[in-house]
Amino acid sequence: MALVALASAKGSPGVTTASLVIGALWPRQVLLAECDPSGSDVGIRMTAPGGTPLNSDRGLVSLAAASRKGLGDEVVMQHSQQLDGGLDVLLGVRSPEQVGGMGGLWHPLGVTFNQMQTGDVLADCGRISSTSPQLPIIHSARLIVMVCSATGSSVAHLRERLATLVHHVDAQLGVIVVADPKKRDAVKQVWSVLDAMSAPVRHRWHLALDPVGAAFFEGQGHGRLEKTQLIRSATDITAEMASLVSAQHGFDMAQAAFPQGEWNER
Ligand SMILES: Nc1ncnc2c1ncn2[C@@H]1O[C@H](COP(=O)(O)OP(=O)(O)O)[C@@H](O)[C@H]1O
Ligand SMILES: [Mg+2]
Repeated sequence: MALVALASAKGSPGVTTASLVIGALWPRQVLLAECDPSGSDVGIRMTAPGGTPLNSDRGLVSLAAASRKGLGDEVVMQHSQQLDGGLDVLLGVRSPEQVGGMGGLWHPLGVTFNQMQTGDVLADCGRISSTSPQLPIIHSARLIVMVCSATGSSVAHLRERLATLVHHVDAQLGVIVVADPKKRDAVKQVWSVLDAMSAPVRHRWHLALDPVGAAFFEGQGHGRLEKTQLIRSATDITAEMASLVSAQHGFDMAQAAFPQGEWNER
């Protein structure tokens, strides 16, 4: 199965939210791996089934300790846990200070993620620069998706990052622009910046900037998540992404690993 890495060049455009949404809609078995060295947000924002807290001692750090005896699907899944709604997650480091304990694990971890027998892996790599410790995860991915906002500075930083990245990876490259669904012109401007690059990015997606939908992935949703602009825009994006890394097609919304909202009686 395949590793798909999501990252940003600067700011906080919504990488974690996009990863959670795409993970929930993924048409196959998938693990969301939090590889952002700045610290886990999923462990804080989301809950385990039944609304109970996630186990913050189980994740990347406990996996790093266990991996001295070898890495593989089984050990990765032993250090993962399920979110409310059913999405499997490997929680990231609690704080940047814990990254030192990861040692040389990033590279073997990336290779393992890209070869998992049990399913695909979506890695939330957070913000990346040329010196980021989690870069080996990006380098192992079959598809790299950069997330940005439709602002001049976000796009300028994205372009710089992509210009460096294309020389170091042979993965497929995609960009998600998180923008108001009505602001199509702003999104088109981003595409024209990408067109002007010597190695243009082929896969381009517009994910809705939608506070109502995003609130569900902050643990504060109200209403019908599947009707939100965020989910409506993410459904096609996810299907396309999943088919880029596999030949399998088709998805049934009833299988979505959504966190529970008020509309669902517990
Ligand atoms: N598509 C979106 N629509 C509306 N708000 C969003 C969206 N994506 C993220 N946000 C909000 O922006 C903030 C940062 O999002 P997050 O996903 O943590 O970004 P990052 O992982 O890039 O730092 C959060 O408050 C989140 O709810
Ligand atoms: Mg994040």
